[in-house]
Amino acid sequence: MGAVGETEVSESQIAVHWREEDYYEPPPKLIDQANANDPAIRERFSEEHFPDCFTEYAELLTWDRKWDTILDTSNPPFWKWWIGGRLNACVNCVDRHLEARGNKNAFIWVPELEDQETKEITYEELHRRINEFAALLRDFAGAQTGDRVTFHMPMVPELPVSMLACARMGVIHSQVFGGFSGAACGNRIVDSQSKILVTMDAYYRDGQLLDHKLKADEALEVASNQGVEIEKVLVWRRQPGEYHSESPMVDGRDFFVDELLEDYRGQQVEPESMPAEAPLFLMYSSGTTGQPKGAEHSTGGYLSYVAGTSKYYQDIHPDDTYWCFADIGWITGHSYIVYGPLALGTTSVMYEGVPTYPDPGRPWRIAEKLGVNIFHTAPTTIRMLRKVGPDEPAKYDYHFKTMTTVGEPIEPDVWRWYYHTVGKEEAAITDTWWLTETGGFLGSTLPALEKMKPGSCGPGVLGINLVIYDENGEEVQKGSGKAGNICVRNPWPGLMQTIWGDDDRYVATYFAKYCRDKQSQDWHDWPWLCGDGAVQAADGYYRILGRIDDVINVAGHRLGTKELESAAIQVEEVAETAAVPVIDELRGKVVEMYVALKPGFEPSDEIVQKVSQIIERDIGKIARPKNVWIVPDMPKTRSGKIMRRVIAGISNFADVGDVSTLANPEIVDEIREQVQSAKVARGDVPRELSPEEMEEIKAFGRVE
Ligand code: WTA
Repeated sequence: MGAVGETEVSESQIAVHWREEDYYEPPPKLIDQANANDPAIRERFSEEHFPDCFTEYAELLTWDRKWDTILDTSNPPFWKWWIGGRLNACVNCVDRHLEARGNKNAFIWVPELEDQETKEITYEELHRRINEFAALLRDFAGAQTGDRVTFHMPMVPELPVSMLACARMGVIHSQVFGGFSGAACGNRIVDSQSKILVTMDAYYRDGQLLDHKLKADEALEVASNQGVEIEKVLVWRRQPGEYHSESPMVDGRDFFVDELLEDYRGQQVEPESMPAEAPLFLMYSSGTTGQPKGAEHSTGGYLSYVAGTSKYYQDIHPDDTYWCFADIGWITGHSYIVYGPLALGTTSVMYEGVPTYPDPGRPWRIAEKLGVNIFHTAPTTIRMLRKVGPDEPAKYDYHFKTMTTVGEPIEPDVWRWYYHTVGKEEAAITDTWWLTETGGFLGSTLPALEKMKPGSCGPGVLGINLVIYDENGEEVQKGSGKAGNICVRNPWPGLMQTIWGDDDRYVATYFAKYCRDKQSQDWHDWPWLCGDGAVQAADGYYRILGRIDDVINVAGHRLGTKELESAAIQVEEVAETAAVPVIDELRGKVVEMYVALKPGFEPSDEIVQKVSQIIERDIGKIARPKNVWIVPDMPKTRSGKIMRRVIAGISNFADVGDVSTLANPEIVDEIREQVQSAKVARGDVPRELSPEEMEEIKAFGRVE
């Protein structure tokens, strides 16, 4: 590992101070059995074979009618894949597996309470349940092909049942993450113009049965105030026959699904043969403030892309037991709990609750008990488990062949714990970088073929040709040590089709910055802007620095939050970190660090000093934090992402915005009291922010 100095950077560049990490080789045991173990696969997907290379993915599916055209670029930049082809997503995920593997488990659902029964759902049973619910949706609720139906569901099997029932009929589903507020759900109902809401009475989280139906009432009110009336609320019950909510059932509007289903027992619904480019679902990204942005994903393009990437990057075989520990309410869950794994006919594990309930050994007990051999989760979960149960994995007898990390850059230190302790040095890690908008992976190593490098996702995945541009559209060369805006040069089947109902916003957000010719039907003129900062090492591997919006500009030095956080987390006592900007008269902005400690450590000046010093050592004087705050916990969303904007608000004595979606809202006042009274005592109160600065702080840190 080389030493690091401070690089001179211009205003528009993001400073990079990473040191190179050592490589890790793919484990030999994985290689023989891997789906992608022939190096020729890179050649098959090379740029000269574009777009034909993706037929390999489309051929993983069963088509009612084969496509005539692979890629249609006639209406730029609304690229269309598999034109003329027809298929049904539910048939591909369920029906076509019945003959060979009807008795095999499609899902294994693990409830949060350990004394409740784990449920195994075979492909046959899943098929029956989907058909019955589809019949109900159609005949009772009046859902028709092309309609949108909003779900606000927790992590229960009824969620994929509902999704696949919609897919069967060509109804577009729009699942809102269960931890979101009723208001967030209401705004998404309005945007998608849904007439039906599918929800649940209650679910378990951290040992408590949470009332969930209450949120439906708020959602309907918010929607109604904007002129959209939900006609039917279909309420699944966590325990059929028992209702666990304070919310009254409204006559003629709210119905218990388990009661209605009595009338649909054994019914079958013919699958709709859908055009490849018909929308399959909407997934909203961003938007506790501002208009929510519904990524519209297609049937044929999306499904082929998630099937292909699940096969080669997750190395899923039908006989694997695969556990993606994410929430289906996010794109990761749609692509890599439901659609990808089921398209390949494997067994997908779903877990209802939090990682540490009732203790931090839980995930490893589940893995041991169910024989999980592929594990997939996010850095926030890994950090949490490392914090509270660093020695737990060794106590359980499970063996992973591949492990995935997704959602944000993983600090190399955390990566190493994942590799050595969780993976027991037997598993390949795929650090999969991608976005809600992209349907599936963009950057990752192929687990059996490419070396891993902690903190770097790897090269672009098969068929994805990446490029980094500077602010002027000049290509940033690999190995230059310079960062810039990472883009995808070519279209690919998993890319969203548009922002639901807002084509102009789609073009403006993702294409306008680097489009070379707005009339051009040549895709080469339309690079796709991801919105992340990245740097490419000499070996071609990409390191993602985080969202461009999360950059902290100190006197013209643009510092990536993740780089600061990766430095600080190396301090032995530190479990979690967050970097935020504070307005500073002299330097525009300066960095403040928040850290939470591992259990058993007490806050001390020594730790504060260590954090400061390591940042100065790894990044430079410019990044030296103005303050390091040791806090009991970070404000987090229900999906575990740290809400940097809330901490930034506190540090700047500014409005922290809506905290109702936090998993731990009470921590906000506690941190505010601690930090602001210390600042007042030191005479370190920043001036009042201008409205623009206020907006910037509020927008800091993309959390959804
Ligand atoms: C970040 C989640 C680094 C990135 C699939 C992206 C990552 C945003 C990684 C999208 C990764 C996701 N390494 N950064 N492996 N995966 N990101 O829409 O900033 O919830 O733009 O999609 O998460 O988040 P989203």
